[in-house]
Amino acid sequence: MSNQLLDILSRTDDAGWLQIVERLQPEMHAVDQRAARIWFAFFPVKLFRALSEAANPEEKAKSLLLKGKYRLTDQVDSSAQFLYGHRYWPEVRREVAEYASGGGSSRSLADQILETASKIASRLGVETAIVTGITAVAFGTLQQVGIELFKEPAQAGDYGKSWKKSANQIVEDRKKDDSQGILGFLKSVDKTFTVNFREFEPGYTFKVVNMQDVTTAGRQYKGDYHSKDMRCMRGEGPIPVECRTAACGTCWVGVLSPTEKLAPPNDREINKWRYFGYEGFTAKEDSPIRLACQLKAHGNVTLVIPPWNGLIGKLDEKEKESGAAA
Ligand code: FES
Repeated sequence: MSNQLLDILSRTDDAGWLQIVERLQPEMHAVDQRAARIWFAFFPVKLFRALSEAANPEEKAKSLLLKGKYRLTDQVDSSAQFLYGHRYWPEVRREVAEYASGGGSSRSLADQILETASKIASRLGVETAIVTGITAVAFGTLQQVGIELFKEPAQAGDYGKSWKKSANQIVEDRKKDDSQGILGFLKSVDKTFTVNFREFEPGYTFKVVNMQDVTTAGRQYKGDYHSKDMRCMRGEGPIPVECRTAACGTCWVGVLSPTEKLAPPNDREINKWRYFGYEGFTAKEDSPIRLACQLKAHGNVTLVIPPWNGLIGKLDEKEKESGAAA
């Protein structure tokens, strides 16, 4: 018997997900609106398909210069830990797996996500808006890891329970800036702010000087981030970097805090988005994905560091070539 949900998922590409996430934005709590957009940028269908269709996935990964953890199958329970709704992941995973096992329906994916989110919310006794983002992520995860793996129960874990703040408090905190003291209004270049790069756990912050790029500021971070993420060189901070000139694409990050606290992307950065393969997930105004080495802060900033980097723009080039040949 055919599974209508899995059929729809198998036909959904990144452009399809972008439309779905856009459609679901008003249904999500503000705390997870940008986070959901970031998750779908961090785990693009085009990369998943390129690796699953490759005769030799390891060679393919090498040709795309992939580094870090780029497969969802290796991080089913942790890829979305920056979403507030992740605290409900075990329940969301179970409910979505049950729904998928029943075959889903032929209705739009957005409608099926909303209906499932509403069922989960009433079981948990929370607002549907709180679990809509994480439910969309669960459908996206199911697409890439397959029903058999997805049906397994989530591993035991904390699941954001140490993130004590309410969703509304987190949204408000992302808007705040560090106080600059009584004479702060006289300061200009010497203002300092805080960059938070692992919001769901305490202690993952560093200071940034007004209009300094966040990768240079990240060198001040004294914790050992290298043991958490081997892509980070000791002394270079928690954001993986190579060129610092918008030439390599290594330093891409998601931005959760309001865009107004950042200088807008310069032409060099914008021109490189297509080459690196982020186009579609970025925007000249209010882009949730940025290159950290070009990201100059004039307020507190909350970032998410993706678990991998590579040059997936090569995949778009292939698509264009085959389109032109056709
Ligand atoms: S470090 Fe190379 S693009 Fe930012």
